[in-house]
Amino acid sequence: MNSTWKRYLVYFAQEHVNFRFAEIESLLSVFHIPVRFLEKPTDLQPYWIVEFNKEEDVKLLASRSLSIRYCLELWGHAKSMEDLHRDIKTLPTAFFEDHLQPNRTFKIAVQSFCKHLTQADKVTKIQTFSYLPFKGQVNLNNPDTHLLYLEYYGTDSNDPPEEPYCVFFGRWISAGFRQLIRELSLKTRKFIGNTSMDPQLSLLMANQAQVKPGDFVLDPFVGSGSLLVAAAYFGGYVIGSDIDYLMLHGKSRPSRIKQKKRDENESIKANMEQYGLQDKYVDVLVNDFSTQFFRDDTRFDSIITDPPYGIREATEKVGIHKDNYTIEERHLPTHIPAKVEYQFSKLYQDLLAFSAKHLKIRGRLVCWFPVFREDYSDEGLPSHLSMKLVANSEQVLSKYTSRRLLTFEKIEEPIDGQCNGINTIADFRNKYYRTRNETRRERRTKEAGIREQNRLEALQRNKNVVN
Ligand SMILES: C[S@@+](CC[C@H](N)C(=O)[O-])C[C@H]1O[C@@H](n2cnc3c(N)ncnc32)[C@H](O)[C@@H]1O
Repeated sequence: MNSTWKRYLVYFAQEHVNFRFAEIESLLSVFHIPVRFLEKPTDLQPYWIVEFNKEEDVKLLASRSLSIRYCLELWGHAKSMEDLHRDIKTLPTAFFEDHLQPNRTFKIAVQSFCKHLTQADKVTKIQTFSYLPFKGQVNLNNPDTHLLYLEYYGTDSNDPPEEPYCVFFGRWISAGFRQLIRELSLKTRKFIGNTSMDPQLSLLMANQAQVKPGDFVLDPFVGSGSLLVAAAYFGGYVIGSDIDYLMLHGKSRPSRIKQKKRDENESIKANMEQYGLQDKYVDVLVNDFSTQFFRDDTRFDSIITDPPYGIREATEKVGIHKDNYTIEERHLPTHIPAKVEYQFSKLYQDLLAFSAKHLKIRGRLVCWFPVFREDYSDEGLPSHLSMKLVANSEQVLSKYTSRRLLTFEKIEEPIDGQCNGINTIADFRNKYYRTRNETRRERRTKEAGIREQNRLEALQRNKNVVN
């Protein structure tokens, strides 16, 4: 195949920087896009200089990326404007002659990062490119060729240098997919919960999971279904489950401060309809993850989930501390099962074992794992012989805590009875409460109080809800 490698500038948003490399690597691999790095990519600067051999590859990558702000075909890159012009003047005419034709409109725009340029500054800088022999008309709104001159002043807008660290000039190829973050904003979403995942992170998770049209995707701790929205947006058929039946039936306490009562039609399904994704919605079911709940031969393309940390929602499973507990027949129809603590390490052990069993080969599990930063070690993470850890990005939450977005890929079918590794990083939930000087007993009393309150509310408000 005849391939022409060209230089591109990939300019990133300065947000969730630690997720950048994992996201791009995941998209390059799912779309089979070859790339050459001309500079070692780092998180320290918001751009990469790379080579692709097809413009379509750049467009495809940008069309799915939340990290990318935009991509330019690079015509020049230098430490100063003078060097940049020298660089551009050495380009062979064949490089840009298609864009200079009389039938093509064009525009040159100027952007600076971390330093404000006045309109007059920008015009002066644009005029320095007048040696480019454009034959077509200028069109500022919808040009055939959109060129961008970019000055990079670092990432600290409080203390930018006098002169830019470097400058770029190139042809606009594509913006990233960041407008989706606003489209799916939680502020305008019909149904949200206390722990709804924001759209940017949900979409990043779906990219880590390499969701493709037609995939079958599960979130076993689905809550308000934010991760299902993201997966469905990329074409996945989505299904979720959660132990909290009030949540799944849209009957839990409203999460918006001013809202007293949930609207009649608040539900995960209503969210799907809001975004025109109803044809991707399979269903949600009330279920305790600690129990087996899918047929043995059920296979998913990916599992994307945010398990409970036990801070803003209880980490619990169906169970009771009493021995030989039985329920009288007459109480069964209205019985709400008692719950006990679902141990943090057991939950992750179950999640990996479940994924090893129910994912297709090369299917991915993408999940959050909260840690106290001082306790973190790669070796302490949950593990399973059939699941390879392929990405691990940190989102810092506070001075002491963070959560890791872990991406595992299933590499082989598990052998029956195979044990998986238990994470040895300190139990986040226990440590969280310990550091807040709450004794175990106080915490249990508090949680039992919350559970009892939930139970009473459930009985009172939801007599007509069938569990
Ligand atoms: C962090 S929240 C998930 C939030 C969700 N990603 C969203 O966007 O709304 C964790 C969820 O796990 C559920 N959960 C807790 N224990 C569970 C269990 N044993 N089985 C299934 N779900 C459970 C909680 O009810 C809660 O909805």
